[in-house]
Amino acid sequence: MSNKAPAAISDQYELWIDGEERSAGTDDRFTVVDPATEDTVADVGMASGDDVDRAVSVARDAFESWRSRPPKERVQVLTAIAAAIREQSEYLATVETMENGKPISSSRSQVERAARHFEYYAGIADKIQGESIPLSDGYVDYTIREPLGVTAHIVPWNVPIYLFARSVAPALAAGNAAVVKPAEQTPIGALELARVATEAGLPDGLLNVVPGFGAEAGAALTGHPHVNGITFTGSGPTGTAVAQSAVENVTETHLELGGKSPNVVFPDAEWEAALDGTITAIMTNAGQVCSAGSRLLVHEDIHDEFLDDLVDRAAALELGPGIDDYDMGPLVSADHLEKVQNYIDIGREEVGDPVIGGGRLDRDGYFVEPTIFDGVSHDTRIAQEEIFGPVLTVSTFADEDEAVELADATDYGLVAGIYTSDVGRAHRFARDVDAGQVYINEYYAGGNETPFGGYKQSGIGRENGVQAIDNYTQIKNVCANIDLR
Ligand code: NAI
Ligand code: MG
Repeated sequence: MSNKAPAAISDQYELWIDGEERSAGTDDRFTVVDPATEDTVADVGMASGDDVDRAVSVARDAFESWRSRPPKERVQVLTAIAAAIREQSEYLATVETMENGKPISSSRSQVERAARHFEYYAGIADKIQGESIPLSDGYVDYTIREPLGVTAHIVPWNVPIYLFARSVAPALAAGNAAVVKPAEQTPIGALELARVATEAGLPDGLLNVVPGFGAEAGAALTGHPHVNGITFTGSGPTGTAVAQSAVENVTETHLELGGKSPNVVFPDAEWEAALDGTITAIMTNAGQVCSAGSRLLVHEDIHDEFLDDLVDRAAALELGPGIDDYDMGPLVSADHLEKVQNYIDIGREEVGDPVIGGGRLDRDGYFVEPTIFDGVSHDTRIAQEEIFGPVLTVSTFADEDEAVELADATDYGLVAGIYTSDVGRAHRFARDVDAGQVYINEYYAGGNETPFGGYKQSGIGRENGVQAIDNYTQIKNVCANIDLR
């Protein structure tokens, strides 16, 4: 196996199984398209159910030897993977931008986040400990935290490299073997990460990638009887289907299903921070972020002035190919463009024309303008449903109680942002709102170390932080009678 990174993205990819690139069992292939140009980037072998079977069985064998290795080996190999990602970061960032469309500077940050994720869980891999539990004198009782076995990872297309690392790093750190089904729009980053990890010393078979479509490869993996844990990130309906098939096999499942997150601005907010936060919340990655702040709730006293400034900020964003590092790139695919445009049409019917944007760019690529709808009532579809594009709804509130009420007025509960200089109010909001993360005075504050996941329909379980290790371990209690004499 070569130790050199390829100088350019290949135009042909296969599956990654047992530490090497392997052809799929059938000749079926699919193409990856550059969303900025609509050109084909590569064609990729499509995993069938049989290929998934092979990957799971290879992972099972690798797990059996990995589980009995000393934890310090896991520390060493995850540390080496982090270093290898950093060494190849420019190449990996280019892959992310070619597949997904995001600006290259964002891809660089996400690749660094992926490296940091392996580094963070390397630091935990030899500290996954049990407890001893006091009982009456005649007993000794202790717990052991054991890996699950083979874990399945269904990764979406919006931040493919980081979201791959987000669940794979803790799974490997805890001693599992992983099989990853990347999104059909963005399989290359996953295949390249598996190669980088293998070259960095990860034993063969511990990390396998089965590119393909959800209905076939995805369903075969998540419904596989020898998969012991599933981490799914994507849409609500698909997540529900995955969980339903998982329960047939009694497989532990973690779901991260997106949201309709509120961003709340009070009159005493630091003005520039609130404007920056509002734009960042919805325009980052062209709004294709599970935790995007897609609903602005602004106090009625500052609505007009804040909206004026916000529109100026949105108008100043320059759109273009991510590789040239414009402020905003295209949406990921033609299908997704159609979905977002459809929501913009729905918005026009529900509340009238947007105050800015609403169109696509007159050029190749799936570009949609930054779009803001004002005067949006909370019972409209554009205020309730995840659009996953650069489309912001604006509504007003009169007081703190109404702010919380509106913040909570969707089925989702992933994150919530608030801008105020009143410390008590900020923490009252944090206490009262239904959200897995609360950002005070800076949207997307936090990082790899902070637990992330949804209340309500936004999901089950937590990624990131020390907590994620719970997703990939099970507890065995051992109780001994020591009084037989
Ligand atoms: P999706 O939920 O259908 O796809 C996500 C992943 O699940 C992909 O890897 C896909 O291949 C896989 N998948 C699809 N069907 C499957 C099945 N039956 N069994 C196992 N895996 C399966 O999402 P899609 O269609 O790409 O996007 C639709 C909407 O979902 C977006 O517009 C957005 O609102 C939301 N979404 C949310 C994300 C998040 O970060 N929470 C990420 C991506 C999409
Ligand atoms: Mg789908």
